[in-house]
Amino acid sequence: MRRVKVPLGERSYEILVGTGLIDSVSRLVPEGGYSAIVLIADESVDELYGKRLRASLSALGDVHLLTIPSSETAKSWQVAGQLLERMAELKVRRNDLLVSFGGGVASDLGGFLASVYQRGIAVAHVSTTLLGQVDAAIGGKTGVNLPAGKNLVGTFYQPTVVLADVDTLVSLPARQFRSGMAEVVKYGLCYEPWILKTIAERMDRIEACDRDVLEDLVAACAGIKARVVSVDESDRSGRIMLNYGHTFGHALEVAGGYEGWLHGEAISVGMMFAANLALEMGLLEPEEVEEHRAAFEQVGLPVRARFDPAQVAGAWAMDKKFLGAQRWVLLEGLQNPVVRSDVTSTHIDAAVDKVLAP
Ligand SMILES: NC(=O)c1ccc[n+]([C@@H]2O[C@H](COP(=O)([O-])OP(=O)(O)OC[C@H]3O[C@@H](n4cnc5c(N)ncnc54)[C@H](O)[C@@H]3O)[C@@H](O)[C@H]2O)c1
Repeated sequence: MRRVKVPLGERSYEILVGTGLIDSVSRLVPEGGYSAIVLIADESVDELYGKRLRASLSALGDVHLLTIPSSETAKSWQVAGQLLERMAELKVRRNDLLVSFGGGVASDLGGFLASVYQRGIAVAHVSTTLLGQVDAAIGGKTGVNLPAGKNLVGTFYQPTVVLADVDTLVSLPARQFRSGMAEVVKYGLCYEPWILKTIAERMDRIEACDRDVLEDLVAACAGIKARVVSVDESDRSGRIMLNYGHTFGHALEVAGGYEGWLHGEAISVGMMFAANLALEMGLLEPEEVEEHRAAFEQVGLPVRARFDPAQVAGAWAMDKKFLGAQRWVLLEGLQNPVVRSDVTSTHIDAAVDKVLAP
């Protein structure tokens, strides 16, 4: 098992990456004298692994299972309210523990509930998606959605531990796994060349969920996120670098072109866009853009968005001023993320041409 520390003073905690962890949760959660456990579990994940997790958790106290839908719809204000009311009915107390079980939806929602229930109870995330293990469960951002937008309500609230059992990734649908790999590639491009090398040389073993390779890869990514978060816990400076590729992905989602696309699929095109933007601005060499493309293709992620540029031209025209004034995360050479605001609409148009295919 790998232990990755998130150093945040008295809010420090560990990310434990390994196999068979869901059977040992009671031993891995830091001692807290809990008498009851509220388990906020993704219903599909609970069906697959819930019995094992609950068997282990019961050593810590009475387990109250509250399942949530296996989709983004769970992150709603209504669902959050219903769960808080259930917790009150169950007489969950301030010194009890909330455990989230599932992907980023479960940790975002579970973290939010823990942060507001009785002004904050302890939370542990047991993360079962690749995206959750390398990103969403780490760093304390919680969130629920409003009809007006995603993650519009949320808190910064650190867990007491994050458990990343790579064995659970075996059952993750292939498309979800690939989507999570977009964040892994992002860490490689922005921070750690070893990650790109591992993807280039061992993608077959990664796809086959080889435990050793996955443990190394997840621990490396978790370590990067832990470092970034530890210097910018509340997202005021360095944490923005983690948004590499996200601006374009999000802008296209808003433009209506990405219905049905998973987050990782959108941001892989977003990172290709950012790479082409950096090429236009003389920050990246053509070979470095090519390294982006090779990594995404190796993982099976899209590098172009397949829809008519004219379809989004209107949205781009409307957004241009905003996008021109935006702070863009770009690479000035691989593994060297920078923030630039001097991006012109000419740069943007040239880069759009490279990633939009009719
Ligand atoms: N807080 C953060 O810093 C942060 C960062 C990135 C993303 N997020 C949030 O994370 C969410 C996306 O997370 P996600 O991609 O993990 O999606 P998810 O939690 O919706 O899980 C994806 C799907 O996989 C299923 N699943 C989960 N684990 C499984 C397993 N082991 N085997 C089989 N099926 C499994 C789920 O039931 C679900 O259908 C979004 O809401 C996003 O806003 C948060």
